[in-house]
This record gives sequence, structure tokens and C-alpha cells, in this order.
Amino acid sequence: MKKACVIGYPIAHSRSPLIHNYWLKQHGIEGLYEKREVKPEDLADFLTHLDAHGYAGCNVTIPHKEAAIPLVGKMDDIVRRTGSLNTIYLDSGIISATSSDGEGFYQNLVATVPGLDLKGQTAVILGAGGSARAIIERLLRTDLARVKILNRTEARAQELCNIFGTRVQWLAPDRFGIESASARLLVNTTSQGMKGQPALQLDLSALPASCIVADIVYVPLKTDLLKQAQARGLQTVGGLGMLLHQAVVGFEKWFGIRPQVTPELYDLVANDVDPEYHR
Ligand SMILES: NC(=O)c1ccc[n+]([C@@H]2O[C@H](COP(=O)([O-])OP(=O)(O)OC[C@H]3O[C@@H](n4cnc5c(N)ncnc54)[C@H](OP(=O)(O)O)[C@@H]3O)[C@@H](O)[C@H]2O)c1
Repeated sequence: MKKACVIGYPIAHSRSPLIHNYWLKQHGIEGLYEKREVKPEDLADFLTHLDAHGYAGCNVTIPHKEAAIPLVGKMDDIVRRTGSLNTIYLDSGIISATSSDGEGFYQNLVATVPGLDLKGQTAVILGAGGSARAIIERLLRTDLARVKILNRTEARAQELCNIFGTRVQWLAPDRFGIESASARLLVNTTSQGMKGQPALQLDLSALPASCIVADIVYVPLKTDLLKQAQARGLQTVGGLGMLLHQAVVGFEKWFGIRPQVTPELYDLVANDVDPEYHR
């Protein structure tokens, strides 16, 4: 039986088993995807013995996404550019790593907005943490003209500007109204608006009618930011789809089939997030 898992500390909240075990069943693969609580001090030992534990690979979540990097034998350019990984697989026995958060965001975006053309456009990113880095890295591989980062801590936004070069610029909070008037895409990558976290306070009135508003927070499924954008008639993209699309990458590496993100899978996980959910 082929096995994979998600490791983190804590790990109880992870919805990855729901996603991967759905695909295993759908494709009639005799396999299993488990949750494994791995403490920071046990990370090196766990990864070194991945094969011995019977795993073809694993997803990696908080707090191991950066700490695991020196422990892998091989990593791709995405891991190098973002300084973070979330997917580990064995490639001819070598512990290998990629990061699928950016790809998950992008695939969910284009699935929600078919025919999206970002050429020459501006994206405004709220936040400068790990997921902002992953999303910016992926967006820069399109022909988007520029990314503007608005973040509570200016130094973290400036750090991303330094890493990613001149297409990425810091956005001063008092210029949001002016600069957002030309945004094609606005993405919240902060934890604001998430259940139990402070609300995101943002005036969307200057956004053009063509602006797509995305939130990567998926608890709740429809955040206040998305509600506010919909009230303005703007197209919106929720965060749960990113979670489903990022999972495609690992599943294909471990089990050899590229799975689909279907409405049925979305409903399954959405019901787990919010039992009141109706499509
Ligand atoms: N949909 C998905 O698949 C997916 C994937 C990954 C993450 N997420 C969600 O994305 C969110 C961020 O994750 P992450 O890993 O990027 O976290 P992170 O690295 O800790 O970054 C958090 C970001 O949020 C900002 N922030 C946090 N609290 C704030 C507040 N009260 N006011 C203003 N800014 C605040 C931080 O600003 P400072 O720099 O000033 O601290 C930072 O920019 C989480 O809610 C996570 O659940 C979703």
C-alpha cells in the first residue's frame, strides 16, 4: 500500500487527509494519507526515515516549512526563491522538495476566472508572510507588470521587494486608495478576517470594476472582504480552492495520477469547514 502524510505541530486541524483520501478512493488506488504530529526536535529524524515509515512523501505545514529546507537532498527553484517548502517526495530515494502554495493559488485563480489575462496588469498583495512570498513568486512567472505589497510591517514588505526585484514595490498605506484604482487583482494573504483573528479593515471603493478580489483565508469560506467586494459587484476568489489546488502537486508525485479539483470535492471540504455550507 502506498502512503503519504502531512506533518506539522500541531496537526489536528489539517484537512489534507480529507482531500487526498477522497482522490485515492476516486481513483481506486490502494493507499492512505495520514496526519502525523511531528515536533520540531523530531523533524530531521522523521524526514530521514520517510521511506522506512512507509511513506512516498509528505506535505509539510507550520512550523516546519522553512526548517525542513536544510534537511532535503534536492529542491526546486520555487523552494529556493521562496525559502519555504510544503511538499516532499522521494525521487530515486533522494528526499526532494517543492512548494505548491503559489501554484495552488494561481490554478484556483484561473479556474475561477477562465481566460484571465494578467499581461501588463497590477496586483496588490496584502501581507508579506510566507503565503505572500509563494503567491508573488508564482504571479511573477506570468506577464503581470507589477506587484504592490501593503503590509503592517514595512520591513517585511521591503524584504520581498529586495528578493523579487523591481516588478515588486512597497505600497504605503496612505497610498492604497490611489494605487488600488489601477489594480486588476487584490489578494489578502494576511490572517486578518480569519475566524478568531482581527477583521480586515479596508476601503475598497477605489477599486476599478475590473478588479478581482481574492482571499486566501478559507475559515470562514466567505470572508468579510469577499462579501464587501461582491457587494460592489466585483469578481471574487475564495481561499478554499487554493488549498484543493495545492494538493494536486503532491498527489501526482506520490501516487502517479494528476487528480481533478471537482465541485464534489469542494463541497466535501467546504462542509467540513462549515457544516451550514450550501453550494
Ligand atoms: N488557502 C490556502 O491554501 C492557504 C495557504 C496558506 C496560508 N493560508 C492562510 O493565509 C494566512 C497567512 O498565512 P501565512 O503562512 O502567510 O502567515 P505568516 O507568514 O505568519 O504571515 C502573516 C501575514 O499577516 C499579517 N498580519 C497578521 N496579523 C495581522 C494583523 N492583525 N494586522 C495586519 N496584518 C496582520 C502579517 O503582517 P506582519 O508582517 O506585519 O506581521 C503577515 O504579513 C493564514 O490565515 C493562513 O491560514 C491559506
